[in-house]
Amino acid sequence: MKSIDICLSPDLMHLYEVQDKAVVVVDILRATSCMTTALAHGVAAIRPVAEVQACEALGKEGYLTAGERGGEKIDSFNFGNSPYEYQSADIVGKKIAVTTTNGTRAISLSEGARQLLIGSFLNLSTLASYLNEQEHNILIVCAGWKGFVNLEDTLFAGALAEQLTAKFTQACDSTLAAISLYHSAKHNLKRFLQNSSHVQRLQHLNGDRDVTFCLKLDEYEVIPVLKGKELVKLEL
Ligand code: MLT
Repeated sequence: MKSIDICLSPDLMHLYEVQDKAVVVVDILRATSCMTTALAHGVAAIRPVAEVQACEALGKEGYLTAGERGGEKIDSFNFGNSPYEYQSADIVGKKIAVTTTNGTRAISLSEGARQLLIGSFLNLSTLASYLNEQEHNILIVCAGWKGFVNLEDTLFAGALAEQLTAKFTQACDSTLAAISLYHSAKHNLKRFLQNSSHVQRLQHLNGDRDVTFCLKLDEYEVIPVLKGKELVKLEL
């Protein structure tokens, strides 16, 4: 039987093999929610990079630039990291290079996976249906915050794992823990997260609207997939 693992922080990646797996990277607040939103609204491709300088260099090659450090937009970039910035007609057909504090780092640590997919609550059911039909073992990589575990990514991992357990065995207890946490939270995710570290951080950055949006279930039927160096819409 296929297995499902959850890596609760990128700093635990040394414990997991990615080569033979479909890896789902998740950074609910807000990187992977933004990526899902951008592709759903017609962005042609997203180039995730771990470093600000690499993103700036891609800007000179014609990409729009996006991202944040510590949650705050990088001054010289075109966009920050709010999902509302990726819902405009102006981005249709464009390519965007993006760097974020944790999300793009988690993606870069997952390169080498058999398949690298992007998860968020916004595409939860589409992702679960797709993965249930695949033959590969799955690893969900939570971006966390600077190596620390966070609640929102763990909740998403639990929500996704719960939809997969009929066809997958759980390889380590993080999967059981995440599913159990999701059960405690699912009736009101926003209230459950109200004291969490990144929700608190985003309050100082007027991010309440973003948090509400990023917790919406099944807003989109798209799955971002890494092709070469760019995330594009997976053909379903
Ligand atoms: C990250 O990648 O760390 C986040 O997306 C931070 C943020 O909320 O902007």
